Amino acid sequence: MKALICQTFENAESLLFQDIEAPIIGDNQVLISVRACGVNFPDNLIIQGKYQFKPIIPFAPGGEVSGVIIGLGKDVTNFSIGTRVIALCGWGGFAEQLAVDASRVFPIPDKMDWITAAGTLYNYGTSYYALKQKAQIQSGETILILGAAGGVGLAAVELAKQMGAIVIACASTEEKLAVCKSKGADFTINYLSADLKEQINSITNNKGVDIVYDPVGGEFAETALRCMAWKGRYLVVGFASGIIPKLSFNLALLKGCSIIGIFWGSFAEKEPLENYKNIQELVRLLLTGKIKQHLHKIYPLENAAAALQDLQDQKVIGKAIIKIGNWEENLVDLNTTRANETESLKKEISINPIHFTDKSELIKNIGRDLGKTEWLTINQERITQFAESTLDFQWVHLDAEKAKTDLPGGKTIAHGYLTMSLVSNFFYQIISIGKVNSFINYGINKARFISPVEVGSEIRMSAYINNVEEMPNGSVKLYLNCTIEIKGHNKPAFVAEIISMIF
Ligand SMILES: NC(=O)c1ccc[n+]([C@@H]2O[C@H](COP(=O)([O-])OP(=O)(O)OC[C@H]3O[C@@H](n4cnc5c(N)ncnc54)[C@H](OP(=O)(O)O)[C@@H]3O)[C@@H](O)[C@H]2O)c1
Repeated sequence: MKALICQTFENAESLLFQDIEAPIIGDNQVLISVRACGVNFPDNLIIQGKYQFKPIIPFAPGGEVSGVIIGLGKDVTNFSIGTRVIALCGWGGFAEQLAVDASRVFPIPDKMDWITAAGTLYNYGTSYYALKQKAQIQSGETILILGAAGGVGLAAVELAKQMGAIVIACASTEEKLAVCKSKGADFTINYLSADLKEQINSITNNKGVDIVYDPVGGEFAETALRCMAWKGRYLVVGFASGIIPKLSFNLALLKGCSIIGIFWGSFAEKEPLENYKNIQELVRLLLTGKIKQHLHKIYPLENAAAALQDLQDQKVIGKAIIKIGNWEENLVDLNTTRANETESLKKEISINPIHFTDKSELIKNIGRDLGKTEWLTINQERITQFAESTLDFQWVHLDAEKAKTDLPGGKTIAHGYLTMSLVSNFFYQIISIGKVNSFINYGINKARFISPVEVGSEIRMSAYINNVEEMPNGSVKLYLNCTIEIKGHNKPAFVAEIISMIF
């Protein structure tokens, strides 16, 4: 098989594109036919022998792949041949095939394309963990992101925005800052040409920032720390500049702030369930088009060394990806396939409501799938009662004899608004929220009655949290994307974004 091989610990230029033996799989490993491999900051350190681990040479770099399982070790029971997966392998990904421990492999949805899949886990996984679990970012907080056009930085821009934060993105060129802006940054600072402190003070009215996300280290760290608001959180993510800042503890004391180390790899290893939940939430955000990796460039395998060099030279904005093999695939436009993806991703029945201890917890769960309700039968009695209470007595709802001859399905059909009115009932089957005083229906966006519900049909609802807004009066506006399906039908009865106000 073809691979880009590191034979001596040097640099990207010294890598060799070669034909080598295909890997042999261990008992706990799977063999992956690699389709794409993400290029990440540690790849350059690994080939120079400067990373936390040193593979035995010769080896192929590349730690984040997408591909298809083509072989299973004898102790692997949770995967099958043909499964589309992503894997965090450490190294070995710049190659046509890769043997990797099954514990490092995750299945991906059918419609996620190979390029997106290979560029997702590392950047978004790191930044989501940093913002959600470590910073516990709240809507309305201000975050300063250094190296914001880099891999993890740009992911942090998008995610922080999704979580309701005010984002100040810092980078070294106007081109990089323009991409940050396109990904939702509210303010941008060119930290090479502007005075960082002055800019932060002016943007925040001298209040300072609540969170600093720092994957760069070096000279800007002290200024950023000095520009923190009371109770701020400084996230130590990485040292892309090559300089580990040595700052005085008194700054943390004066600011009443926390300095928090981020090590996503260890989190994934020590808290795999939490990490898996994060990944599911990220996949949801990706497939619903809420986040989308900025693709710098796709490089062929034989030219993968150039991708490493570009990353080292600070030329890459967002993510560089290596394409491996001659596959053809239409890159899925995630925004336009939103409805289909939502459908295919829905979980199987989750009758127990997902419990949130407090309404403020909802914001950390934007994008979360709430599963499905039980089936509910729509009988004639229910339809008739609805007609009586709404004074809508159309024969299509009530006259079974006429329906036999005059309606395509030969049965009366429920009012569309009857289907919609069941949303509240279904709502309580899938979500429960503690410490709530009152709950009111606030509105409905994009409601569509897609298929008629004939008498005798069974329907159920699935939903995910589309957005959560914290209101100045302490209430929370919850946006649920709801789909009511009919048993045995491909098309749903009703889809809408339901807005509730929670006090
Ligand atoms: N803690 C964790 O769990 C974790 C996980 C993933 C990554 N990381 C670390 O986070 C850091 C950034 O990773 P990344 O994937 O975002 O890398 P990246 O895509 O290369 O981005 C790094 C950014 O840092 C800035 N930078 C400043 N000085 C630099 C220099 N001398 N060389 C390269 N970049 C420089 C660049 O932005 P400007 O040109 O705009 O300054 C660049 O866009 C790395 O240290 C990586 O190891 C940590």
